[in-house]
Amino acid sequence: REAALNTKKRSISIGTAANIDAFHTDENYKKILGREFDLLVAENVMKMDVMHTNIDTFDFSQSDELVSFAKQHSMQIEGANLIWSNQVPAWITNGGYNRDELLGIMKDYILNVVGHYKGQVKSWVVVNEPLDTNEANQKSIWESVIGPQYIDYAFRWAHEADPQAKLYINEFDTELINEKSNSYYALIQGLLQRKVPINGVGFEGHLDVAIQYPYDQLVSNLNRFADLDLQVQITEADIKLQNSPDPLPEKFKQQASLYADIIHACQEVKQCSGVVLWGFTDRYTWIPNFTHHPDQPLIFNAQYQPKPAYNAIKEAL
Ligand code: XIL
Repeated sequence: REAALNTKKRSISIGTAANIDAFHTDENYKKILGREFDLLVAENVMKMDVMHTNIDTFDFSQSDELVSFAKQHSMQIEGANLIWSNQVPAWITNGGYNRDELLGIMKDYILNVVGHYKGQVKSWVVVNEPLDTNEANQKSIWESVIGPQYIDYAFRWAHEADPQAKLYINEFDTELINEKSNSYYALIQGLLQRKVPINGVGFEGHLDVAIQYPYDQLVSNLNRFADLDLQVQITEADIKLQNSPDPLPEKFKQQASLYADIIHACQEVKQCSGVVLWGFTDRYTWIPNFTHHPDQPLIFNAQYQPKPAYNAIKEAL
């Protein structure tokens, strides 16, 4: 089967995050989700606060719904994410657990979840956003209680639970070559030196038309990680318009050409497995909640009309 968006060179996957509320209430949403993409990531329902409801309880009901939809539509499933600073259940953040206890909770969680989806979820974001853990909004209980070794443990347990699954690390604002992506690179080199079982590097791709992303730099940045013999992937692409003063039609064009750049960059980098969008319709994008400004970062408008960005991606694929 070919996803409608993916008709010509079939070299990379084209994926999207799926929003469970839209999935439950909006038939148009489901129709496009099943038609246009060949990879699905749950936007929220495969995160720890949803799946690990208490120390001895797991809830896979909503994630199972998305997984069975993906299977029916021959879409690959990516799991996101196992360990992150955010969306940690309150019973953990308020639990006062010590290092050994928290490691025990982590191990039990990873073995259960990855075990539950063994053979079905082909790739996992094992550790999400390991950098910036000192910022107030990114304070990670994992790093502060366990120490930086929490990353090694998480990958080793995920590998133990499903040795076939491709295991990714994931980070934002690392698309270009700069101080942050250099730190990301150094962190990953350390993992490889310690023989941590990592297969891939995710670059979120929350971009902005008001910022320049020189194409050659996107490619050379992806290439330096790929040269570590790892897969790379754009994991959460969306492109904000709100920060540009240009007229809307102009912004739509810039957005379209930046989406095309990401697709082309991924096609050009041999080990790039695909591009995943963080949703597909402006009707349900997370951006306005996050930035507190209206925005239109995705490829269909709120009425499900394809935007110039949609056509640019279709043309590029
Ligand atoms: C976001 C979701 O889109 C929102 O609905 C939720 O309220 C917060 O999380 N980086 C990530 C994603 O890795 O998991 C985040 O998703 C967006 C930023």
